[in-house]
Amino acid sequence: MRHQVVLIPGDGIGPEICRAMRRVLDAAGAPIEWEERIAGAAAVERYGTPLPEEVIDRIRERRVALKGPLTTPVGTGHTSANVALRQALDLYACVRPTRTLPGVPSRFGAVDLVIVRENTEGLYSGIEHEVVPGVVESLKIVSERACVRISEFAFQYAVACGRRRVTAVHKANIMKKSDGLFLRCARRVAERYPQIEYDEVIVDACCMRLVMQPERFDVLLTDNLYGDIVSDLAAGLVGGLGVVPGANLGSDCAVFEAVHGSAPDIAGRGIANPIATLWSASMMLDFLGEAAAAAALMAAIEAVTAEGKTLTPDLGGKAGTREVVDAVLGRLNP
Ligand code: NAI
Repeated sequence: MRHQVVLIPGDGIGPEICRAMRRVLDAAGAPIEWEERIAGAAAVERYGTPLPEEVIDRIRERRVALKGPLTTPVGTGHTSANVALRQALDLYACVRPTRTLPGVPSRFGAVDLVIVRENTEGLYSGIEHEVVPGVVESLKIVSERACVRISEFAFQYAVACGRRRVTAVHKANIMKKSDGLFLRCARRVAERYPQIEYDEVIVDACCMRLVMQPERFDVLLTDNLYGDIVSDLAAGLVGGLGVVPGANLGSDCAVFEAVHGSAPDIAGRGIANPIATLWSASMMLDFLGEAAAAAALMAAIEAVTAEGKTLTPDLGGKAGTREVVDAVLGRLNP
């Protein structure tokens, strides 16, 4: 049986790394039928919208997608197609495993944590308006339903993946109602999982502890904004954005994508690190029930990083995207 997967190459380095990922999966014989669709800046040019309705419909039908990053203009222009996609498909859980790969230079030896981020509401609800000239209001929407289901997800994930602790990240000392609700829900859910330790940390203290003792953390349960920020911080602990994968999961659909953005500063130069997207593809294979193929791909990636000869410039190497892909393929099909 072949799996039907929607592929959104995206903007900036997106097409390069998605091509690279596809080359690896196709050469490895992964049973996937790709259906390519355009979103992001390219879609704005062609269809006048960054997220054509048809793209959402195709993912709804196929249920699984792998996407490259989509560019969002800063402070002006169209709203984020990434956020819109997650909301439209109710991809409520964003899962970002952040682990030191062998051979990848980083400040810490053995980081191994997972960020579980609420993906549909909070300050990313996108509800903003100008109250009077010079004063704007941005609403942070927090619902009990969303807090409970993301907490449930984090604990279930911890149990399923053999993790020992869930840490809720919050700012309930200041945002007593919104983050207060988030914490109350997390505590309620935690009571049902006595086998998993539960603790809480204020988001600013969390950032400090992450850069001092990252090994202290296991599963981080966060809202939408804190999760976004802490994800990049955590990426910095393990070698950067080129090596952190992600999944956006809902009850009906799943969209896999690296944590990084479209990296306009290196787009088109053939030096983007494909590992984050390859690892996201491995997560997707696992999700599709292709556990052996997923594990083989991860083993090949780790063999290449451990050897340390074929690394892209973000990891201190001199290799291009293509050479990394060739090296991974060499390990997969020796
Ligand atoms: P970015 O993640 O694109 O880049 C930050 C830095 O990391 C840059 O120096 C870049 O060269 C480097 N980098 C990122 N991915 C890399 C890779 N695979 N290999 C080597 N180096 C890599 O973040 P930035 O510059 O803040 O955002 C650029 C655009 O991407 C924005 O329009 C932003 O909205 C969008 N974005 C999209 C995301 C998505 O589609 N999920 C996520 C984050 C940002």
